Amino acid sequence: MAIRHFLTLRDLSPTELNQVIHMAIEMKAAKREGRQDPIFAGKVLGMIFEKSSTRTRVSFEAGMAQLGGDALFLSPNDTQLGRGEPIEDSARVISRMVDIVMIRTHGQEIIERFAEYSNVPVINALTNEFHPCQLLADVQTFVEHRGSIQGKTVAWIGDGNNMCNSWINAAIQFDFNLHVACPDGYEPDASLVAEAGDRLMITNDPIVAAKGAHLVTTDVFASMGQEQEQEERLEKFAGFQVNHQLMSHAADNALFMHCLPAHRDEEVSAALLEDSTISVVWDEAENRLHAQKALMVFLLQASS
Ligand code: CP
Ligand code: NVA
Repeated sequence: MAIRHFLTLRDLSPTELNQVIHMAIEMKAAKREGRQDPIFAGKVLGMIFEKSSTRTRVSFEAGMAQLGGDALFLSPNDTQLGRGEPIEDSARVISRMVDIVMIRTHGQEIIERFAEYSNVPVINALTNEFHPCQLLADVQTFVEHRGSIQGKTVAWIGDGNNMCNSWINAAIQFDFNLHVACPDGYEPDASLVAEAGDRLMITNDPIVAAKGAHLVTTDVFASMGQEQEQEERLEKFAGFQVNHQLMSHAADNALFMHCLPAHRDEEVSAALLEDSTISVVWDEAENRLHAQKALMVFLLQASS
């Protein structure tokens, strides 16, 4: 059987993605009710981090431990990856010793190369281009609060970054409408935009994007690796803050999400982030744990 990877949301079919979301909701209930089985006993997850992380590391590591498995934290500082051992060699060696691998790195091509040489499933835990694990948690969170996301409207306000590209993939796979508001020059990936067709609308006006949205979401203006652009981006993204004023243009009972970490009073007002009648960011963060456990169950079963 071919090894299944999760490098973008497009690696699973819509049916498989919905299965993972429903399994995540069930695994969350199982954990709360104390009925988790050690289904990962004897399994090891290799976790390669070339960028910082709180949520991703804790959720993958805790998730493996809760299901009886183990996780290895591998940073370039302490492995030969940081001293120039080729990705192809690292992939062949690491994947002979562990059962599944997650990688947070720079270019998408790095993770694609690793997957090509790996004989175990590889999960994208964030690249410059995509952050698909976050979208599993985000869709799970929407489903838990509002039911199916199919046919709904989501507004993305801000940078056309890895999260925005992943929202476009999610719109294609889960079949919803996406409104993107970004400043000129900060649009998402052009080929994805073309593929999304008329379920995607792009504008420079956050109010136009927010109109009628059932969910409004954003991310930092400067992602990891863009720290030196922070000042310039603060100027370019003036007017792109999500706050109560902007939410007033969205649909009644619209939710707010943010993958976190958030910069209060930059891309989101502190008041909105902390308004638990609208903001579901803590549920969203928690769901990384459940969604990734379900994803690992799916990938290990589908590849065995
Ligand atoms: N949202 C997210 O991926 O957070 P971390 O960078 O803390 O992992
Ligand atoms: N766009 C952000 C997401 C962090 C979880 C980054 O890449 O830094």
